[in-house]
Amino acid sequence: MKVFITRRIPQEGMKILIEATGVCEVSQWDSDEPIPRSELLKGVQGAHGLLCLLSDKIDAEVLDAAGPNLKVISTMSVGFDHLALEEIKKCGIRVGYTPDVLTDATAELTVALLLATARRLPEGVEEVKKGGWSSWKPLWLCGYGLSGSTVGVIGLGRIGMAIAQRLLPFGVKRLLYTGRTAKAHAAEVNGEFVPLDELVSESDFIVVSCSLTPETQGLCDKAFFSKMKKTAVFINSSRGAVVNQEDLYEALSGGQIAAAGLDVTTPEPLPTSHPLLTLKNCVVLPHIGSATYSTRGVMSALTAQNLLGGLQGSDMPSELSF
Ligand code: NDP
Ligand code: DGY
Repeated sequence: MKVFITRRIPQEGMKILIEATGVCEVSQWDSDEPIPRSELLKGVQGAHGLLCLLSDKIDAEVLDAAGPNLKVISTMSVGFDHLALEEIKKCGIRVGYTPDVLTDATAELTVALLLATARRLPEGVEEVKKGGWSSWKPLWLCGYGLSGSTVGVIGLGRIGMAIAQRLLPFGVKRLLYTGRTAKAHAAEVNGEFVPLDELVSESDFIVVSCSLTPETQGLCDKAFFSKMKKTAVFINSSRGAVVNQEDLYEALSGGQIAAAGLDVTTPEPLPTSHPLLTLKNCVVLPHIGSATYSTRGVMSALTAQNLLGGLQGSDMPSELSF
């Protein structure tokens, strides 16, 4: 069976596919850079299996180009907002993804981003390098600490929960969360399920860790930022489109909120001329939540195993139900 892979992936996954001789014949976009759309449409033709990444939009056009052989799409990501699930379902195609294996790495990065943003680490490093460090100064480079604070988590799923678990030992006083439903596991972090408005107005730190859906798209907008405390810090490691970036820029530049840390943006990469990059109180990372060597290796292996399961009509270790 023909398999198309849209990018170079860590060798753990390639090894599994190459060793599956007799099951699949692999072709690949052999680059670290995203596949151009025209090449994706060409490469997927006649494929039985497609291994893709979150930067590949898999919609009706790709499914048409693939044709009727396509049985399985395996994405090397836990997020699946790049997949047109309705169309995929109509074609009877199974979908594999990578939940759990990246939870710890992403939670760790989110905490690092929160601390870096709240305690102004990039600004401090920059001042040291450019000679702005004249002496120890009582009022210089002060930020916000977690001890005694209220943290609000939007989306207490796998990653949201892992973030909460890591933040509590810093002395967080209250842990608020919001989502579609209250979660039994919230008790482990003394989480209080509250309406979004209450979370926004009472939190000192807001962490966005929900999935991107039509409901969460643009959730963090002008009205949202206007309800935040002026001293509050906003962190997003879910998807860029949850945030209205123009409204975020206004909130940051006008002093409506204290600071923001973003691991995800719209678009990705964020153009170097983007206004958010001119702000000292905005820390932007290049979507590196899951970027540890071991996590990417495990994600790659799981993606390959999901693909093989789908090709063979057997169990997939992480099949998306939709
Ligand atoms: P989960 O499915 O476990 O969690 C998603 C959470 O989103 C659920 O708790 C869900 O709550 C919540 N949610 C859905 N709709 C809403 C809503 N309207 N308001 C508030 N919360 C909502 O997924 P993961 O924790 O594994 O991953 C979450 C997301 O993180 C991924 O979808 C991906 O986009 C992003 N991600 C980013 C990474 C990075 O590198 N920065 C790395 C990995 C993931 P409920 O159950 O109540 O609907
Ligand atoms: C995902 O898996 O959805 C992340 O954004 C990248 O690991």
